[in-house]
Amino acid sequence: MTLIVTGGAGFIGSNFIRCMRSAHAGIRIVCVDKLTYAGNLSTLQGLLDAPDFRFVKADICDREAMSALIAEERPDAVVNFAAETHVDRSIEDPAVFLRTNVLGVQTLMDCCREHGVPRFHQVSTDEVYGDLPLDRPDLLFTEETPIRTSSPYAASKAAADLLVLAYCRTYGFPATISRCSNNYGPCQFPEKMIPLIIINALADKPLPVYGTGENIRDWLYVDDHCCAIDLILQRGRPGEVYNIGGHNERRNIDVVRLICHGVGKPESLIRHVADRKGHDLRYAIDPAKIHRELGWLPQTPFEEGMRRTIDWYQHNRSWWEEIVSGEYRHYYARMYGEG
Ligand code: NAD
Ligand code: TYD
Repeated sequence: MTLIVTGGAGFIGSNFIRCMRSAHAGIRIVCVDKLTYAGNLSTLQGLLDAPDFRFVKADICDREAMSALIAEERPDAVVNFAAETHVDRSIEDPAVFLRTNVLGVQTLMDCCREHGVPRFHQVSTDEVYGDLPLDRPDLLFTEETPIRTSSPYAASKAAADLLVLAYCRTYGFPATISRCSNNYGPCQFPEKMIPLIIINALADKPLPVYGTGENIRDWLYVDDHCCAIDLILQRGRPGEVYNIGGHNERRNIDVVRLICHGVGKPESLIRHVADRKGHDLRYAIDPAKIHRELGWLPQTPFEEGMRRTIDWYQHNRSWWEEIVSGEYRHYYARMYGEG
C-alpha cells in the first residue's frame, strides 16, 4: 500500500506517519510538505533515510507538482494534513489560510480525480462547529451540528469541508472527513498552548493565559487521533464525516496548572493576558458515530498523555530550541511582548 501524506512534517502528520509505519508492515509513505514556518525536517528525523519513505518538498496548491507526483506514485490514498493551523495567526492575516486550506484542498482533489485515486481523506477540525456555551455541559458537537465558524482559520477549514462534500455528491469523489478536537503530544509547534506553556515553564518564563482561562477544550493525545484516521481509511464510508474526540474537557487554566505541577514550577508564573478576539468558549465532541461504526475509542488518559508530552519536551530540547531561536521569536514578541 502507498499513501501520500500531505503536511507530514508538521505535528499530527509526522505522528501519523510514525503510527502508520508501525501499524502496517511494508507500507510506503510519500510525505509532501511545503516546509512553512510550522513544518520542520528535524521532525522527520530517522525517517528520511528509511526504506519505503519518500519526502517531497512541495506546495499542495502547485497543481503541476501534485498531478505529476500522484501520476508517478499511484497512491492508494491521499491523506491531507497540510494546512495553516494557528487561530491567532489567522486573525493577524487570513489570506494564506484561504489559499492553503481551501484552494490547496481543491487542487489536491482535482489531481486525485484526474488520476483516479481510490480514497482521499481530509483532516478537519471541531472548530468548524463554532463554540458551545460554558453553562450547558449537556451540549456536544455531533456530525449534524450546523457549521458556524468563529475564526478565519475555522472558516477556511469549514469551506474545505463543504467543498469535499460537494465533490463527493457531484462527482462521486471517494472522500472522507474527520473533525477532531484539540490534539497534544510530541512535536507540536510551540505557538500552540500546551507546548508554549511547557517550554515557558521549563525556562521560568511567564505563562500567558488568555482572558480568565475558563475556556474549555476537549484534549486528545495525538496517537489516538492517528489511530482513528487509520480506521477511517480502512473502513470509513466515502462521503461521511466522523467526529473524533476524547471526552476530555478541561479549562485552560487547569491545563496550565497541571503543566506547572508536571514541570515542577510555581503557579505564580501564570499571567492572565488580553483575550483572543472572538475566543471560542467551549469545544466538546460527541464521538459516538466513530465508536459505533468503527469501534474507535481513545486509549490515552490525559494525565498519562501529558506526562509523556512533558517528558518529550524535556528530552528533546534541541528540537524546540532551534525553533524558538529563529523566526518564531518575532511572532512571540508581537503576540506576548519581549518577556
Ligand atoms: P501544523 O501546523 O503542525 O502542520 C501543518 C503542516 O502543513 C506543516 O508541516 C506545514 O509545513 C505544512 N503546510 C502548510 N501549508 C502547506 C502547503 N501549502 N503545502 C504543503 N504543506 C503545507 O498542523 P497540525 O497541528 O499538525 O494540524 C494538521 C491538520 O490537522 C490540519 O489540517 C489541522 O487543521 C488539523 N487539526 C489539527 C488539530 C490540532 O489540535 N493541532 C485539531 C484538529 C484538526
Ligand atoms: P491553541 O493551542 O491555540 O488551540 P485552539 O485555539 O485551536 O483551541 O489554544 C488552546 C486554548 O488555549 C485556547 O482557548 C486559547 C488558549 N491559549 C492561551 O490561553 N494562551 C496561549 O498563549 C495560547 C497560544 C492559547
